[in-house]
Order: sequence, then C-alpha cells, then structure tokens
Amino acid sequence: MKTIRITSDLITGIPMIDQQHREFFKRIAAFLECVEAGKCDWVQLGGTYSFLEAYAIEHFDAEKSLMTQAQYPEVVSHLKMHAAFVAQLEAMNPANFNEDDDGAGLRMSFLLVDYLKQHIAVTDQKLARWLKDRHPDQYGQVKT
Ligand SMILES: [Fe+2]
Ligand SMILES: [Fe+2]
Repeated sequence: MKTIRITSDLITGIPMIDQQHREFFKRIAAFLECVEAGKCDWVQLGGTYSFLEAYAIEHFDAEKSLMTQAQYPEVVSHLKMHAAFVAQLEAMNPANFNEDDDGAGLRMSFLLVDYLKQHIAVTDQKLARWLKDRHPDQYGQVKT
C-alpha cells in the first residue's frame, strides 16, 4: 500500500469540505505510514478509530446540511454511502477484537483508501461539481 498524497482528484474546491477532508488526509496518511511500517500498535489503532468515529459524525453532518440547503437531488444516495462507511467502520471497532489480531490495522487501511478513492474522489466530487454549477454565486464556476 502506497502512502497517500493529496492529489487534485481529492480537492473539491468547496472550502468547507476541503478543510475537513484535509484534516482527514493528514490523520490517515500518518496511520497508513504506521501500518505500512508495521509499527501501528493497538493504542494507535484505537486512537485512529476514535478520530474516525468523531470525524464521520461531524463531517457527514456538515455535508448533509450543505446538500439539504442546496437541495441537491442526489442527497439520499450520497447519505447512504456515508451510512455504509459508518457501518463498515463500526464493524472494525478495535474494542471488539483481540489485541493479537494482526490484520486489524490493514483492514482499516483498506477501508480508508477505498473511501478516498470511491467516495471523496467520485461522490464528493460529483456533489462539488453540482454545487459550483447550480450555485456559482456561492461556490464559483467549475474550472474547465
Ligand atoms: Fe466528504
Ligand atoms: Fe460525502
């Protein structure tokens, strides 16, 4: 697994979303490096899990408000993806596993990389394009 970089496909151009995503990238990059190096202990895994739990509530709530206010037509399917991520995350709660479970860090890494590629780079980008297109006064025109 390669260390993540903040590439342009992960930047939406919507300041509130990008600001929260940046916090996520920073934390995840450190976690992936730690797992990759085989140095991620149970305490770090638990810390990452707690961060993600809190982050998901805050960030998904913020995106929900944004989509609702803007009357985004794909709000339901977008929120379903958020709920699916939360469900997958909860299934990985380290509190439910033994500390000698070597695969826990790797499983969480795969979930996070998948979330970056499938959700942020695709679904959040789709929302951002729609916001910029439909509400250019607030979010600016889409760059071509
Ligand atoms: Fe997001
Ligand atoms: Fe989202």
